[in-house]
Amino acid sequence: PTVYVLNGPNLNLLGLREPEIYGTATLDDIADLLEDRARELGLAIDMRQSNHEGHLVDWLHEAQAEAAKAVLLNAAAYTHTSIALLDAIKAIKTPVIEVHLSDPTQREQFRHHSFVAMGAVETVQGRGPQGYVDALEIAARL
Ligand code: DQA
Repeated sequence: PTVYVLNGPNLNLLGLREPEIYGTATLDDIADLLEDRARELGLAIDMRQSNHEGHLVDWLHEAQAEAAKAVLLNAAAYTHTSIALLDAIKAIKTPVIEVHLSDPTQREQFRHHSFVAMGAVETVQGRGPQGYVDALEIAARL
């Protein structure tokens, strides 16, 4: 079984981007962590990143078409703006687990609302890279 791990805008700059908030691990480092745990859990990981909202919508559709077990979604700033992502999550039967490195509810007011949370089965936030691994374990139990 494959778990899609979809990452939104600016996460390609992880490691360089506001390290005081997001830490110094890169997206590749997170992919390595996930690969190790996935192997132990008997899962495969399909990890992707895009700065384009429509790519994330297309990949959510693809996750269902390819019968993915679950999707881990860090939609980054689109979390707080994208009704299109919420609709895509609702349009598919594949369970989506929301992930954030930081805890958006402890940051600026404009990050407090999550459209993704309205469709996701669970949210893991404020745990840094480990949050992706925790979300994978939730996916494994679904
Ligand atoms: C983020 C939190 C979002 O508010 C922000 O726009 C991001 C990253 C996180 O992982 O903490 O780009 O999703």
